[in-house]
Amino acid sequence: MDKKFYIAANWKMNASLSFINDYFSFLDSKAENSNEMIICPPDIYLQSLIKTAPSFIKTGAQNISSHDAGAYTGECSGEMLADNSVQYVIIGHSERRQYHQESNEDIKLKLLKAIDSNISPILCVGESREERESDQTFDVINKQIRSVLDNDILSKDIGLLIAYEPIWAIGTGLTATPEMANDVHSFIHSIVSEMISNSIPILYGGSMKESNAKDLLEMEHIHGGLIGGASLDASEFLNIYNIAEEIRNG
Ligand code: 13P
Repeated sequence: MDKKFYIAANWKMNASLSFINDYFSFLDSKAENSNEMIICPPDIYLQSLIKTAPSFIKTGAQNISSHDAGAYTGECSGEMLADNSVQYVIIGHSERRQYHQESNEDIKLKLLKAIDSNISPILCVGESREERESDQTFDVINKQIRSVLDNDILSKDIGLLIAYEPIWAIGTGLTATPEMANDVHSFIHSIVSEMISNSIPILYGGSMKESNAKDLLEMEHIHGGLIGGASLDASEFLNIYNIAEEIRNG
């Protein structure tokens, strides 16, 4: 199957300098395969990661300001991230939507700033448990995608990735079944294909781990994972990356 996979780690608010040293003593340049590995640490560790990680690993931030500069305490601009060689940025993660009240409008502004700074966005979408149980999954996803992406944005060569992260599966140990995830991925694919002809990789996130990665990654519309908890274990994260390679070569 010639499908390139994107295996991305979202470390969230975890890590330390010694964690980073240990992580990359284990995950070194010998680990490289034909797929893309991305690691998104907290901003304060971006430079340590860039210095310590083997060069095949791409670096991502977990947030970007919707402003260029000025009195925005605690924020980091796209220009600052680019200045620190950041290649990807997670935008619209459900934890940012929930704890920082980020709306679809804010998320669009952030996405535009990432594009201005030549940083590839990883746009996260996903429904809550209540929304799934009341059959609103597709409506929610449709709105999240259409209010942020349009023809103009998609026609730019910006290395955009979309991550489908059902909120009820994040950090809970509950995973969408491969079929459930694939259905939503296929739906996202159909929305995006109405706007452009090239396909955008769609990653799955929500309790992905070594034990379920193969079944998820084998699904037609799943092009990788955005992995939280399991990415904090270098050995497990590397095993997931290697599973992707086996599927690609298989
Ligand atoms: P978990 O893998 O811990 O469920 O987290 C998923 C996630 O939120 C990645 O962005």
